[in-house]
Amino acid sequence: MDTTNHHTLALPVGVTLDRYIMTRQTAFAYATGELSQLLRDIALASKIIHREVNRAGLIDLTGNMGLQNVQGESQQKLDVIANIRFTRALKNGGEACALISEEEEEIIYTGNNQGKYVVAIDPLDGSSNIDVNVSIGTIFSIYRRVTPIGTLAAREDFLQGGQEQVAAGYILYGSSTILVYTTGSGVNGFTYDYSLGEFILSHPDIKSPEDGVIYSCNEGNLNEYAPPIQQYVADCRQRQYSARYIGSLVADFHRNLLQGGIYLYPATRKNPDGKLRLLYECYPLAFIAEQAGCKISDGTQSILDIVPTDFHQRSPLFMGAPRMIKRLLSYLQQKNHTDS
Ligand code: AHG
Ligand code: MN
Ligand code: MN
Repeated sequence: MDTTNHHTLALPVGVTLDRYIMTRQTAFAYATGELSQLLRDIALASKIIHREVNRAGLIDLTGNMGLQNVQGESQQKLDVIANIRFTRALKNGGEACALISEEEEEIIYTGNNQGKYVVAIDPLDGSSNIDVNVSIGTIFSIYRRVTPIGTLAAREDFLQGGQEQVAAGYILYGSSTILVYTTGSGVNGFTYDYSLGEFILSHPDIKSPEDGVIYSCNEGNLNEYAPPIQQYVADCRQRQYSARYIGSLVADFHRNLLQGGIYLYPATRKNPDGKLRLLYECYPLAFIAEQAGCKISDGTQSILDIVPTDFHQRSPLFMGAPRMIKRLLSYLQQKNHTDS
């Protein structure tokens, strides 16, 4: 049997994540098996978070811990737990030499200096929605380290830029739990079957629609948006598009990815650089978006082309169906607003 082109084989809906990763290993840029193992480690941690999320209300895990994270936002207990779980999974796994997390200022070393990869992670996204039973998520981004194997990871391992990601994904803990990821050859979604303890391929080769009728932004901030963005939102309303905004980036992203829509988090007075974090929110979702046929921009360039300088820097984010982004950009560039 020819085993050289496994990645071109379509795998059937219903295959488990583990089998999928194993079979598709040859499609990875570095087909040594370590990246596969790293993805499995992340999947395992996400099963634990799924469990914690689902019993959060029962065992008093919800609520504010009274601490603040590095961005000065209040940390919810589940943020802390998710951070610990993912860190532990990466330490035990051995494939990642270090990670950065939304919840910690500096690099977290795993103690595995032989690890070839580094990970940037938002362990729990949408944390203000935990206490009210609304969907939340995890976002991750993986790079191959640029520092020599066997040494401590360094800043440059994490500041390579979005184009250098070798894999990115998210887990949405919603009406069901789904893990969606890319290694640069398409996007696939795996729904968690709790009774089996397995992620099962449910959304093979996700392709997002060319156009959509959903717009997603925090419209409470509308008056603070730059005039062209206000005009674009007015355009969406004029066309009677549906406004959908959950306030968990992962959930808003996932819906728009499947149904077609545009997500906007522009600069505001409170957040002049936008609110969303480049390394562990914008880059990974932008990688997935691009793989699924969406367009992603900070208003002037592709998100993936932004040169990073800081682990926790923010960026304005506009992401969605190609036609919608094109129209938004025509407003931003004061061009004719064509539909073509
Ligand atoms: P996090 O919970 O990881 O801090 O992220 C919150 C983010 C993102 O999930 C969401 O889309 C956005 O904040 C919502 O911001 P607003 O409340 O300003 O709309
Ligand atoms: Mn987040
Ligand atoms: Mn978070």
